[in-house]
Amino acid sequence: MNERITKAVIPAAGLGTRFLPATKAMPKEMLPVVDKPAIQYVVEEAVSAGLTDILMVTGRNKNALENHFDRVAELEATLEAKGDTAKLETVNESTGLADMHYVRQGDPMGLGHAVHRAKMHVGDEPFAVLLGDDLIDARDPLLSRMLVEQSRRDASIVALLEVDPDQIHLYGAAAVESTDDPEVVRITGLVEKPAKEAAPSNYAVIGRYVLKPEVFDVLEGTTPCRGGEIQLTDALMTMAADPGSSGVYGVVFRGRRYDTGDKLEYIKAVVQLAAERDDLGPDLRAWLAAYVTELEPVFASH
Ligand code: UTP
Repeated sequence: MNERITKAVIPAAGLGTRFLPATKAMPKEMLPVVDKPAIQYVVEEAVSAGLTDILMVTGRNKNALENHFDRVAELEATLEAKGDTAKLETVNESTGLADMHYVRQGDPMGLGHAVHRAKMHVGDEPFAVLLGDDLIDARDPLLSRMLVEQSRRDASIVALLEVDPDQIHLYGAAAVESTDDPEVVRITGLVEKPAKEAAPSNYAVIGRYVLKPEVFDVLEGTTPCRGGEIQLTDALMTMAADPGSSGVYGVVFRGRRYDTGDKLEYIKAVVQLAAERDDLGPDLRAWLAAYVTELEPVFASH
C-alpha cells in the first residue's frame, strides 16, 4: 500500500446539467447507484487505496453530501431501539469511513478551478483527485496502481481508457509515447473533446489523477476558456509540454468504469451492478431476461 500520499480531493461542485431535473436541488454525486450514493463508492475507493484524508469540493447543494458522511443520531437511535443491527451497520458505513473535509467552490468555474480550491489543504505534497461521478469497479483497482507510478516516476499521473473512436469527442484525448511498461505511456499532448478526425489517439482521460502540487501554480497561470471555466486539462497540457517539469504519465485502465453523470451510462451502471449482486441479482436477472423477451416483438416492428 502507498505510504506517502494520504490526501484525496473529490470535486463535486458541478452543476450536473446533463441530469436535470434530478440535480436541481441535489448534487449528481448523491444519485443512488443501487443503494449507495455514487460519492460513497468514490470515497470507499480512495480509502481502499490508503487515502483517508478526503477533501470534498462542494457547491450550492452541499448539505446532502456533508450529511451523508456525518452521523444521524435519531436514525441510529431508532434502529438501535428496534434492534435492527443490519440497517444500523449500513447507516454507519459512510460515517467512519475517512477523515472528511469540505471546501466551497463558490462559482462553478470549471474542474481546474475546483481542484485549485484544494491548494491550502493539500500543501506541498502529491495528492489524488477522484471525480465524484466517475465510478471505477472495486474489483478492478486503478488508483493504487497510479499511486505506485507517481512515486516511481515522481510525475503527475492521469488515468486513460481506450474508447471507441466515435466516443472520443466526449473526453480529453491524449497524445502519447510508449514507455518501458506496456501499461504506462508518457503524455506529450492533450486535446479537450476533439472531433474523431482530430483526436491524437483513442486514449481518453478519465476521472482519476495523482498530481504533483506544482499543478496549483500552473492552474493560477491558466487562462479561462470560453465560458470562463478553468480546465484541468489545460494545466496538464502545460505540465506535459514543460521540459523543466517531471512530466505527465498515463496509466492505461482496462477494467470496468461507469459514468454516472450521463443518464444512459447511469442506468447501465445501476442494472449491471445490481444484476451482479448476490441479494438482488438472481431476481433481477430473471426479470431482465423476461423483459427482454417481451421487448423483442416491439423491436421487430420498428
Ligand atoms: P462535468 O464535466 O461532468 O460537469 O464535471 P458538471 O457541471 O458536473 O455536469 P454537466 O456536464 O453539467 O452535466 C466533472 C467533475 O468535476 C466537478 C463535477 O462535480 C464532476 O465531479 N466540477 C465541475 C466541479 O467540482 N466544479 C466545476 O466547476 C465543474
